[in-house]
Amino acid sequence: MAKLIGILTAGGDSPGLNAAIRGVGKAALGHYGMQVIGFRDGFRGFMENRSMELDSATLSGILTLGGTILGTSRDKPHRMPVGGKLMDMTDVMVDNYRRHNLDVLVCLGGGGTTKNAYRLAQKGLNIITLPKTIDNDVAKTDVTFGFDTALGIATEAIDRLHSTAHSHHRIIVVEIMGNRVGWLALGAGVSGGADVILIPEIPYDVEVVAEAINHRSRSGKRFSLVAVAEGAISKPEAMALAEAQKKVDKAKNAATRTKAEAALKELELQHTGHTMRLARELEQLTGLESRVTILGYLQRGGTPSAADRLLATRLGTACTDLIDAGTYGVMVAARGDATEPVPLQDVAGKLKTVPPDHPWVVSARRVGTCLGD
Ligand code: F6P
Repeated sequence: MAKLIGILTAGGDSPGLNAAIRGVGKAALGHYGMQVIGFRDGFRGFMENRSMELDSATLSGILTLGGTILGTSRDKPHRMPVGGKLMDMTDVMVDNYRRHNLDVLVCLGGGGTTKNAYRLAQKGLNIITLPKTIDNDVAKTDVTFGFDTALGIATEAIDRLHSTAHSHHRIIVVEIMGNRVGWLALGAGVSGGADVILIPEIPYDVEVVAEAINHRSRSGKRFSLVAVAEGAISKPEAMALAEAQKKVDKAKNAATRTKAEAALKELELQHTGHTMRLARELEQLTGLESRVTILGYLQRGGTPSAADRLLATRLGTACTDLIDAGTYGVMVAARGDATEPVPLQDVAGKLKTVPPDHPWVVSARRVGTCLGD
């Protein structure tokens, strides 16, 4: 009997999701004679059993579309808000999987989605994930789809900000997404020639950043572009966070743990708005006027780049080869020009951070970019 594939997209949307849905769908229908249904709005729609057939008409014309035709959500199977309470809805999802007689559920998502998908795999479901996110922080894959498009958008923004910073003799601090990692800020900062790049993996000293900008001013360059990752932290912040995390890890009972977690959360909340604070501090320390540009969701919207369409199509079609072979419980990773199945337990809960000696970091330093340390 023809295999039946269920597919959902979860977590923040990312350019290339529709290309991946199309890759899975077209190869499944056309090449393997399988059937495909989509679930709407991530794990929420899977739990609520909201599905749609993915036939060749639905899959047509979506390659170049941004977002996801299935919709997405950040709901987690084991902690889903239902009737004002957080409920474990995993068993309801298992029932829906059985009701549809699915052979496999394909989950397109980032680190959080992989963790959630792994939970369903542990309940006995056949699961395959595809790594997507603009943050590029999924472990065990060379790259995630969505990253290249966001990199292009952030780089173009830095290019455009250069001329206005130059004309007004200003510092422009541009905040780039990336959650807790610095791939996007680092990549865009290097490709856009930012003068300063600040990423979470390398805590910064504001005095060092100011001195780099002052040094440029003394050599006649009275403007600077600072590319700052949304998760970038100063050295004192990094120390305070590490201390708070230690208290959480060492907590001996539930009460001290709750207190320690609340303190950690408070510190994380204080981090909100750090880019504005950084710009103010740099203005004071350098005497140059500062402005802030937060790129935000612009980085996630719109048409995927050619590289992301290609990657999403490669991962999507490779996924159907694995389904045909009955290989489940894996993420389809990009490895050079090829793809490779990686066991979900090797990916779930792991974050791919920027190694401080990564070639992009080394190149940035070689061309004289300040990394704030
Ligand atoms: O994971 C992608 C991402 O865009 C991160 O870069 C960012 O921190 C986060 O999602 C924003 O999440 P939300 O869409 O829930 O506001």
